[in-house]
Amino acid sequence: MTISAPGKLMLFGEHAVVYGHPCITTAVDSRLTATIEPTDDGKVTIDAPGVSDTRFVDGAIALATTQWHIRHNGFRLSTRSPFSGCYGFGSSSAVTVATLKALAGLGHADIDDRKLFDAAYNIVLSIQGTGSGFDVASAVFGRTLYFVAGGKVIEPLAVGEIPLVVGYTKVKSNTVDIVNTVAGKRDTYPEKVDRIFLGIAKIVDQAKEKMLSGDWERVGRLMDFDQEYLRDLGVSSEKLEALIAAAKGAGAWGAKLSGAGCGDCMISLASPDKRKAVEEVIIKAGGEVVHVTPNAAGVRFETTDDQDEMFVVVDRNDNILGYKTRRECHHDPSLIHRTVGVIIYDGKGRVLLQKRSMTKDMEPGLWGISAAGHVTRGQTDDEAVRRELQEELGIDVPLTFVKKFITVNDQESERAALYRGVSDGPFRPEASEVSDIKFFEPREIKLLTASKSLPMTKAAEQTLHEVGIL
Ligand code: MEV
Repeated sequence: MTISAPGKLMLFGEHAVVYGHPCITTAVDSRLTATIEPTDDGKVTIDAPGVSDTRFVDGAIALATTQWHIRHNGFRLSTRSPFSGCYGFGSSSAVTVATLKALAGLGHADIDDRKLFDAAYNIVLSIQGTGSGFDVASAVFGRTLYFVAGGKVIEPLAVGEIPLVVGYTKVKSNTVDIVNTVAGKRDTYPEKVDRIFLGIAKIVDQAKEKMLSGDWERVGRLMDFDQEYLRDLGVSSEKLEALIAAAKGAGAWGAKLSGAGCGDCMISLASPDKRKAVEEVIIKAGGEVVHVTPNAAGVRFETTDDQDEMFVVVDRNDNILGYKTRRECHHDPSLIHRTVGVIIYDGKGRVLLQKRSMTKDMEPGLWGISAAGHVTRGQTDDEAVRRELQEELGIDVPLTFVKKFITVNDQESERAALYRGVSDGPFRPEASEVSDIKFFEPREIKLLTASKSLPMTKAAEQTLHEVGIL
């Protein structure tokens, strides 16, 4: 199973947000992934090449096992990140969120986004000792958020396309150090610093309103005002100022630093006709243009199943009504679509079950019947069932048609055509589809499912009922 979480950019309100004021953050489509595979060897192996500080992954594993009671018999976790180590896109938060979500998936735990945010924020805060949590919120919820520290407010903003141009200073910032320096300044000059924060908070609220109405020119001006405050706070730098001035000189509506400051990225807003010129001057001023799309989706499950594959949609009597994609069929129970399934028995009458791979889009890691799959456009049931048997188990044996029936759950409705066959193997299970296969006595299946020791797909349960095994 692979989970991906987006990076983030702070649009307005950095630093002030640490002191209880709001900010606006957007998720960017540069995504960190965490892949988890059960190993059944009792060991936990971590492969996280881009993650310099493994405490976030370790913290996520500790929390999932102690607080969410995720039970496992060993797993391998690998993370990959296109943005760790630079840009300030929030790799620590993204890796914490993606790892927690992957562990919840491994343990089939029902963890909603709010619970995921609270858990990830606790981990990040306990390691960093400071931080508002806006980066965690971006990784979990994605999109563009109006956010108050600790998740007191997490409000998605329905903004249109944000005409953002991002420049990297090629200087890495240390957020914790900078936040601590600002805290020191506030201790020494509380009134001055709190006045700056109040000014920033006002800008955030105005920016929210202008972003919602799509007035990007005005949002750009507000970026300039926010930058003035940040400059006063002492968190800008020569390099940031050079890129900001260059962008403004090339016609950007506004520009500011993004995040802790002193390095990392600057952001600017520019009309489509000015975009190229702004990008060119950022490079000329010694920066690097970072191409990202804002307003990206939050943490999500990534699948190897082709979501655009066309399925056959039928009525309750199996008459073809039309064709719809896998994506559509799997989210709309009114679309009954054709599936085929096979139960393979061995010479002793035992039943072959398969454990679905963790990259399946539906019910990953659960046990199913011997082989099953969808009927795609232009295929007959007989063709589809032979293909599934070949693809999933690597066998070709004579099959007998058993019956047709309809299965329904919250997410989808299937018209199943069930077949049976006999084989003692050898089997060659396809790793992307199947993670394990095993023969069971029919009696054993009944006992194991009754004691909940054989987590099974809903469709498999219904199929085994149809043939009297359950
Ligand atoms: C850092 O990217 C943004 C800060 O406001 C810190 C935080 O909100 O955690 C400086």
